[in-house]
Order: sequence, then structure tokens, then C-alpha cells
Amino acid sequence: MSTARFPEGFIWGVSTSAYQIEGASGEDGKGPSIWDAFPGGRDGDPACDHYRRYPEDVRLMRDLGMTAYRFSVSWSRVLPEGAGRRNDLGLDFYDRLVDELLGAGITPYATLYHWDLPQALEDRGGWTSRDTAQRFADYARVTHERLGDRVDTWFTLNEPWVAAFIGHGSGVHAPGRRSAADAFVAAHHMLLAHGLGAEALRSSGASRVGVVLNLSPVLTPAQLGDFAVEPSEEDAEAVARIDTLLNRQFVEPILRGRHPGDLLPVIEREAGLGHVHDGDLDVIGRPIDLLGVNYYTPVVVRAQPSAAADPAFPGSEGILFCSVPTAVTAMGWPIMPGGLSLVLRRLTREYPDTELMITENGADFVDVVTGDGIHDVDRTSYLEEHLRVLRASLDEGARVRGYLVWSLLDCVEWADGYQRKFGLVHVDFATQRRRLKDSALWYRDVIKRNGLGV
Ligand code: NOJ
Repeated sequence: MSTARFPEGFIWGVSTSAYQIEGASGEDGKGPSIWDAFPGGRDGDPACDHYRRYPEDVRLMRDLGMTAYRFSVSWSRVLPEGAGRRNDLGLDFYDRLVDELLGAGITPYATLYHWDLPQALEDRGGWTSRDTAQRFADYARVTHERLGDRVDTWFTLNEPWVAAFIGHGSGVHAPGRRSAADAFVAAHHMLLAHGLGAEALRSSGASRVGVVLNLSPVLTPAQLGDFAVEPSEEDAEAVARIDTLLNRQFVEPILRGRHPGDLLPVIEREAGLGHVHDGDLDVIGRPIDLLGVNYYTPVVVRAQPSAAADPAFPGSEGILFCSVPTAVTAMGWPIMPGGLSLVLRRLTREYPDTELMITENGADFVDVVTGDGIHDVDRTSYLEEHLRVLRASLDEGARVRGYLVWSLLDCVEWADGYQRKFGLVHVDFATQRRRLKDSALWYRDVIKRNGLGV
């Protein structure tokens, strides 16, 4: 069936992040990050001991036929105090990793900020301080100067919504602040960091610059079964409000250089507007080459006048986040491959010039290790169903250049620790032994035939 094939040159790979796999949190001069210091963190050391075992991990990717690997650079490995003194030993690690990848025929994609702010910067206000955005640009330049001769594509931030609102609103993630004002201010400074960082990367000669956003369709419970269901006026308003907070708050400034109009009054009420300076949106909205889309699950809401605001969504009073009777992953996230199509249709319709890449998609399920392997059928079908939707989206004109599974390895799932299993490869954390799950073997076949079986 020809429609199961992907376009020639389609990029296949996996994504990881520094804190979640590297371990070696104090090694070779690395400074502490907010996740090393966070009491709610579940100890990112030794994680997967990737800092030492990267040659084996690169070999695994090569043997699975991958052509791309998205990793993140730990800011406090490069600049232990977040600014100023450069730690060459830290840069050396990424240097070795990039060489190993290139030697294995795998294209490196670097993410500069995957949530691990240097603690020294947090001590000076972290993302609530405007200065952090400028320090990020310096860090971007230093890192590019070292790796830019071999890394073409650079993502500034990963999922700024999560870093701003789970880190500063609900406080479930580091740095654990619980303040609506801090969350909005942090979000703006992250956007500014993206803009200044992108500028720094370009002036240092980067060929491709992008950012990675978590985008989810926001739906009512009834729409989960049928997208075409028309919500009531109240529910439609609830959907629009959450969509603005989660998606448009980031997509609009980055791709259009403007705030969504309905967001400004919310920001003003919660945080004032003093942190938004003239000219910021011009910096944030400069053209990018690539938008990375992380898609896992939809968000389901409906109006409920008595509901208090969810701290991760300041401004969401009167809205209920619904749990729905659909299939879910072990994280409890509803499985809805069609949600990816909704995200891609909207991006294609509203921002047709933007090139896209699925930079994360994957699922946490409980794995059972048996004598003859790890038969993770749930994960495999999750991935397969999403790829079928992606294939159909390409036919509809979505400009998606590649697909990266989250993740290569079972690793540290932030505040949830080691219990979450997103890997194609099982890691026994007592021995650090890696074992391919069935999903990895399935993915190898997908890559080999550049598409799905019939
Ligand atoms: C998105 C994040 O980028 C990644 O760090 C996390 O592990 C996955 N989602 C799964 O929650």
C-alpha cells in the first residue's frame, strides 16, 4: 500500500534530554541545575549514565537505522554558574557525542534549554529575571561556537509552557514556584530568550534555528468521540481560553510576533505588563526555520462555573479539566492519535510557511521483562497509530520533515522519576543494561522500509 510509505528523505529518530539521561551531575566541573537542587526531583543521577555510556547508546541508534538524534545540552555543564566562566570539559562531552553521532551517520539536533536552568541563575531570580534571557543568548553563542561546525539544526527551548507553568505556576517541576505572576513573567522571558538566542545562533553562523512547543488540541468531552460536535457557547469559551494559555501564548508571538489578543488582559491582571518591553515581540517573532511539535495527548475541558483556576493555567477559573473514559497511557493521558492531525491541520492552515518536525511522540506503559524479550504491544500500537495519522497529514499538505520518538531509553521522568517508561530501549537501572523492546524492533522496520507495513 503506497500510502504507508513516507516521502524520500523523511527523517527518523529519537529525542532525549540531558537531565533525564546523562547522570554525572557533578562530573567534570558541571554546576548544579534547578533539577539537581529540586526536592521534588527524583534524582537525575545516575539516570541512564549516558555521560559515560553514550558510545553504546549511539550504537543502538545506528543499529536501529536512525538518521536523527535530538539531544539537549546541559547549560550548567557548559557554564557552571550560568554565565561567565566557560567549562571546556563540559563542552568536550558534547563534542565527543556529536562526533560519535556523525561517525554513525546520525544527524545531531541540539536543544539548548530542556528545563535545567543553572541553579546560580535561579538564585538571581531565574526566569522571572529579564537578565536570564540575555544569559541564555550568551550560552547559545558559546555552545554554537564549539559545536556549530558539525551541528546544523538548533532548537532554542523545549516546551516553554511546561517550564513556565508547571515550574512556576503549579510548582510540580523545578524550581517549584507557585505564583501565577511568576509563571507569566517566566513565560515571557523564555520567549525573549528564544528570540535573543536565535539571534545569537544566527550571528554565530547557525544554518537552521527552531523551537520546540508542546501543542495539544483542546476539546470538550463530546468532541473526543467526534471532532465535529459543536460545543455549547460556554464550553466553546472554555476551550478557547485554555487553547490560548497552552498553545497560542507561544505560537503567536513566535510565528507572528504578537500576543493573542485575549491573553493580554489575563497577563495584565495576573502579572501586570511591566515585564513586556517595547520591541520584545519583534525579537521573539523573527522568522524561524523549523517548528518542533511535541504531541502526546489532547486536553479535555468544559465550562463549570464553580471551578477554581488550575494553578498550571492561571486564568482558568470556571473551567473543569475532565478525565474521560477513553484508553489512556500509564500516565493517565488519553490516547488520541487524531489529535495530532488536528494540531497539524491548524499549523498548516494558519502558518503555512512554517516547516515542521514531530520532535516528540511516545507513551509510558508498564513493561514486563520476560525471558524472550519485552513485548510492549501498547507502545508499538500507540506509535503506529500516530504514524498513520502523520502519514495522512502529509497527504493533506502538512510540511512535516521528520518524526522523533520520545524516547530512546527509559529515563528520569522529572518529578515522576524512574517509574515512567517511555523508552524504545529498556534500561535496568541497577546494572545499566540496555535491552531492545519490541517497539524498537518495530521502529527499525519502519525506518528500513521508510513507512508502515500494510
Ligand atoms: C515532554 C518533555 O519534553 C520530556 O522531557 C518528557 O519526558 C516527555 N514530554 C514525557 O512526559
